Amino acid sequence: MSCAMLRHALALLLALLWKGPSGAQAAEFGHLPDNITVLEGESVVLRCKIDEEVTHKAWLNRSNILFTGTDKWSLDSRVSLENNNNSDFSIRIERVMVADEGPYTCSFQARNKPRTAHVYLIVQVPARIVNISQDKSVNEGEDVNLFCLAVGRPEPTITWKDFKYGLLNEGEFLEITEIKRHQAEDFECITNNGVAPPDTRKVKVTVNYPPIITDVKNMPAQVGKTAILRCEAMAVPTASFEWYRDDRRPVESDNTLKIKNEKTRSLLLFTNVTEKHFGNYTCFASNRLGASNASMLLFRPGAVYGGAASLNGRLSGVGLWFCLSISVLMKV
Ligand SMILES: *[C@@H]1O[C@H](CO)[C@@H](O)[C@H](O)[C@H]1NC(C)=O
Ligand SMILES: *[C@@H]1O[C@H](CO)[C@@H](O)[C@H](O)[C@H]1NC(C)=O
Ligand SMILES: *[C@@H]1O[C@H](CO)[C@@H](O)[C@H](O)[C@H]1NC(C)=O
Ligand SMILES: *[C@@H]1O[C@H](CO)[C@@H](O)[C@H](O)[C@H]1NC(C)=O
Ligand SMILES: *[C@@H]1O[C@H](CO)[C@@H](O)[C@H](O)[C@H]1NC(C)=O
Ligand SMILES: *[C@@H]1O[C@H](CO)[C@@H](O)[C@H](O)[C@H]1NC(C)=O
Ligand SMILES: *[C@@H]1O[C@H](CO)[C@@H](O)[C@H](O)[C@H]1NC(C)=O
Repeated sequence: MSCAMLRHALALLLALLWKGPSGAQAAEFGHLPDNITVLEGESVVLRCKIDEEVTHKAWLNRSNILFTGTDKWSLDSRVSLENNNNSDFSIRIERVMVADEGPYTCSFQARNKPRTAHVYLIVQVPARIVNISQDKSVNEGEDVNLFCLAVGRPEPTITWKDFKYGLLNEGEFLEITEIKRHQAEDFECITNNGVAPPDTRKVKVTVNYPPIITDVKNMPAQVGKTAILRCEAMAVPTASFEWYRDDRRPVESDNTLKIKNEKTRSLLLFTNVTEKHFGNYTCFASNRLGASNASMLLFRPGAVYGGAASLNGRLSGVGLWFCLSISVLMKV
């Protein structure tokens, strides 16, 4: 309802109620009403100071009468008379709702003159996240779209943050195109409107990628001693490991050789190295997105060794030469 309409309704009402002198103008219109701010669910008292001989008084919500004197017109059980004497006429609203927001008017008639006091009730609601994307598991390279819906009064801001890069986006949506493995983490949605502490929630994004073998070393070993070959792989989900000997013969555990699989690596544990253990071992790491392999040597110390362990079996010409010379040496 516009101010002019309200003014009309009020003037009419006052005229009807109290049969005041016709043509009397309601006073004090036009000056800004006081704002009363209250949190949704709390209660509020609307005070009206009356300092003169008052014959009639009323409280209105927009153009609806709540009270005239001690007569309650409102059917709303949340509305009650807080105080009523010669200097104070106040009402109370319990469990304030958003719908209660708006202009309230205290009208009274003193010395046959209608007067009004206005308050504007502002109802605030703390910012709260009402729905947010579920945790996600995607493959590297896919696009990821996250949403975060929030409510509150005044309208809350919504921002997306992560712990590595800080602020990522303002708004309900976060779009990550072609996600990379290093972007896998918790994304935090924060909503705030200054009414209460910000509300935050997290979405965990898992980025799957095929195994990459990161660490492979050729190892010297002495007959009769122990030795370890390691194969370290990064992968999501974690890789499963297999070991092969030169000709792709699977390596099997026995009383001198144990395979120990851990989360990110696999170990070949030689408990008592013998001649037959020297040679070329291939570690094969796989998950549902792919596989990768790397080869390494368990070699006799003192053997002239210059080759590098090979990842993915890719070897340069020089590497191949070294490999060949080592094979020759090993056969000696
Ligand atoms: C009441 O609030 C409104 C809107 O927020 C503002 O424009 C106005 O100045 C406020 N009035 C007073 C008296 O503070
Ligand atoms: C009216 O009530 C208010 C609040 O209870 C009190 O402070 C004030 O003194 C009272 N005034 C009169 C005239 O009784
Ligand atoms: C005030 O009026 C609005 C609109 O008619 C209504 O929804 C609300 O419940 C009323 N509140 C009170 C406290 O009377
Ligand atoms: C949240 O949003 C999703 C996707 O739009 C929808 O399927 C789900 O029902 C919503 N949950 C709630 C509690 O509103
Ligand atoms: C290692 O194996 C050799 C030959 O089989 C055996 O003689 C030796 O006792 C073993 N050493 C250990 C520590 O088991
Ligand atoms: C090892 O990796 C190479 C290069 O990617 C590939 O050609 C070869 O087939 C792989 N070996 C196995 C046993 O998967
Ligand atoms: C070890 O075996 C792999 C797979 O058979 C092969 O690609 C690689 O060249 C071999 N490495 C050496 C040093 O012989």
